[in-house]
Amino acid sequence: MNFKITTIPGDGIGPDIVREGCRVLESIGKKFGHSFAFTEAKAGGCAIDATGEPLPKATLDACLAADAVLLGAVGGPKWDTLPGNLRPERALLGLRAGMKTFANLRPALMFPQLAAACPLKPEIVAQGLDILIVRELTGGIYFGDRGRSADGNSAWDTETYSRQEIERVVKIGFESAQKRQKRLCVVDKANILESSRLWREVSEAMKASYPDVALSYMYVDNAAMQLVRNPAQFDVIVTSNMFGDILSDEASQITGSIGMLASASLGESGPGLYEPIHGSAPDIAGKDLANPLATILTCAMMLRFSLGLSAEADAVEKAVSSVLDGGWRTGDIAGGAQDRAALGDKLVGTRKMGDLVVGALEAL
Ligand code: IPM
Ligand code: MG
Repeated sequence: MNFKITTIPGDGIGPDIVREGCRVLESIGKKFGHSFAFTEAKAGGCAIDATGEPLPKATLDACLAADAVLLGAVGGPKWDTLPGNLRPERALLGLRAGMKTFANLRPALMFPQLAAACPLKPEIVAQGLDILIVRELTGGIYFGDRGRSADGNSAWDTETYSRQEIERVVKIGFESAQKRQKRLCVVDKANILESSRLWREVSEAMKASYPDVALSYMYVDNAAMQLVRNPAQFDVIVTSNMFGDILSDEASQITGSIGMLASASLGESGPGLYEPIHGSAPDIAGKDLANPLATILTCAMMLRFSLGLSAEADAVEKAVSSVLDGGWRTGDIAGGAQDRAALGDKLVGTRKMGDLVVGALEAL
C-alpha cells in the first residue's frame, strides 16, 4: 500500500526526532512492502519566521490531504514574547480544530526496562503502570468564548460542551477500554461545574451499550491525587480538554520516561495527528541528544490507528523494546551520573538510537 504522510518537524528538537520517525517508517515500508510519501510542512516558530503566521493555510491543506500527520514539536524562547494569537502553540490549536481531531489518546506507560526511572515507590507500581488518557481536544475552555472587560480589570474563559461533543469522545473512551482492561473513568468536577454534570449524564446514558466496561466517575482533584497514590486503579480515563491537559502531564511524569511517550489525535474520519508528548527542548536542538523513541512509538500509533497496519505497529514496538533490552539509552533515560558512566558506549545519540531501532526491525 502507498501512504501519504505530511510531516511537521516544527521547532527545537522536532526536526531531529521526526527524521528518525520517518526512517523507521521507511524501514517498515521495506520490510512489509508499503511505501510512504513524505511531504514536509511548516508550523510553529519556524512558520512564524518564514511566513509571519504559526499555521499557514498551505500547512493545514497539506495535513488534510494526507493519510496521517507526524508532528515533532513547536515553540521555543525565541517566540515566547509574541502575543497569544501569534505564538507557536496557536499552530497546535489550529491543527486540532482544522483537522477536527477531537480525541487525543495519551498512553502513560511505564517501560519495564526503565522502571528504575519511575519516581513512585516500587510497591506503588508493582503491577506496572499502563493508563490511557483520552482527552477531549477541540472543545471546552480552550475554544470557548474568552475576553477582557473594557477596563481590563476582569477576564473570562468559558467552558462549554455540547452533548454531541461529549458523546463522541466518551465513545472513544468506551471503545478503548473494551480493547484494554475494560475500565473507564470519567474525570470531571461535577460537584461544581454544570458542564461536568452533562458529561456524567451523557456517559450514564451510553453505558448500557458497553455492558462489558465498568464505568466510574471521579472528581479531577481526587484523580490528580489517586494517580500518584494508586495509579494501577486506572485503565482508561476520559476527560475534558483542560483536565486532560493537566492529568496527562502528571501521568506521563509518573512513568519516569517522558521521552518515550507517544500520542494520537483522532477525528471521526480523515487523517490523524501524531506527536510525541514531550516538547521542543530548544537547549538540545540539533545536537544529536534528543530521544527519538517517543516519535518512533508515535509512528507505531499512526500505523495502528490511521493506516490500519497493526502487525507493522507491533513490529515497531517490539523493535523499540528489544533496543531497550539491549541496554541502549539516550541521555534522558540513562539515569543518574553513575548510571551514565556505567553505560559506556551504550549511551547513544538521536541518530544512533534511530539506527538501532531500524536494525532491530530488520532483525525481527
Ligand atoms: C499539550 C500542550 C498544549 C495544550 C499547549 C502547548 C497549547 O500543553 O499538547 O498538552 O495545552 O494542549
Ligand atoms: Mg499539555
